[in-house]
Amino acid sequence: MIREITINLSNLLLSLSDAVDLASPSIGMHQMRTAFASWQIAEEAGFPPEVIERIYAGALLHDIGALTPEDKVKLHDFEEVNLEPHCIRGEWLYELTPLLKPSSGIVRNHHKPWNEWLGREDHPDALPSQVVYLADLLERITNRNVYILHQVKGIKERISSLSGTEIHPFIVSAFLRVAQREDFWMDLASPRLYSSLLGTGPFKKMEIGLEELSSVALLFRTLIDFRSRFTATHSTGVAECSAALARLFGFTDTEILLVRIAGDFHDLGKLAVPNAILNKQGPLTEEEFALAKQHAYFTYSVLNTIEGMEQIAEWAAFHHERLDGTGYPFHVKADKITTGARITATADVFTALVEDRPYREGMEEAKVKGILSEMARKNFLDPRIVEILLDNYDFVYEKVKECQAVAKERFESQFMEIRSLT
Ligand SMILES: [Fe+2]
Ligand SMILES: [Fe+2]
Ligand SMILES: [Fe+2]
Repeated sequence: MIREITINLSNLLLSLSDAVDLASPSIGMHQMRTAFASWQIAEEAGFPPEVIERIYAGALLHDIGALTPEDKVKLHDFEEVNLEPHCIRGEWLYELTPLLKPSSGIVRNHHKPWNEWLGREDHPDALPSQVVYLADLLERITNRNVYILHQVKGIKERISSLSGTEIHPFIVSAFLRVAQREDFWMDLASPRLYSSLLGTGPFKKMEIGLEELSSVALLFRTLIDFRSRFTATHSTGVAECSAALARLFGFTDTEILLVRIAGDFHDLGKLAVPNAILNKQGPLTEEEFALAKQHAYFTYSVLNTIEGMEQIAEWAAFHHERLDGTGYPFHVKADKITTGARITATADVFTALVEDRPYREGMEEAKVKGILSEMARKNFLDPRIVEILLDNYDFVYEKVKECQAVAKERFESQFMEIRSLT
């Protein structure tokens, strides 16, 4: 039986920050490096601890509103002309989670140059956003193929030239003081930045419980799903179906909550899959399918680095494994697949069958039941879980559709509105 869990906040945010940059190796750790530079500059500028935390939390996921890998690479490489959409969506996403809400204004304004703040210099988000503005720019102009200490002079000159126009002179001078230290640059470029921030960075001693973890899971579920109208309610459906099956199976309340969180996160690794593949009209080629398959691996590799979330990582990432060992990416067999993972696997198939896809409509009850029974018979899915689902079909179906309707409403009324605004 699993009891209440606690998670280190720094560990959780750093791993999720890493997940945002899975889009391409060329932008790997962009959020984390921006957060590190923001933290160092904010400390040097002498902001109070709570403002430093707000800046750091804002920087750690600042590009969360750039929904596709394609958009993220464009933004990083200065190709995206309109910067507004990802800032507006990022602010909206941050507001979903009480822990991150205080940083939403920083995310909204992380590309706003100083001269656009004029007249509102006293706004509590003005200088904090400027820190992230500078750190983000600094990270993007750093050439990953050139030794970092050989670039310092050029970067300092470039940032100094923006003082008083794009960036507040006070923030530029704090940066210039930080920039004198070799350790700052070497940490910035270090592949071990994660562990050094985990040990020394903000939130290192802060623990959160299941309730807060659930709200962060909700943010990521929304982020994963709202990329396209075809997936807009998928993780919501999987989370709801998993929770319903876990309850019917006899899981405790805590375990049900953990299964729901696993459902929220199960497709986290899709942050690494290009939209061109995710939204393709028609079956995938072998190469495309190989790329799509990575997602379950990435879900595991991100969640498993969060201490206390090992069980959730397994339940979430094993959703494409099959009891006979023919699933992916681990090819584990029944003896290594726990009940929670069997539940998310069944919930994923069920939800996928009943929802519309780019190339087909959601399926009828008889067809869904037939496919699920066949998958149980072939020893892909656990016959016990499938039986529970078939015996309670209407109940589970209604629950899933009810929650998906709420998510769809939210997507169309709020999120689409943001899209059309921009
Ligand atoms: Fe950005
Ligand atoms: Fe950025
Ligand atoms: Fe999946």
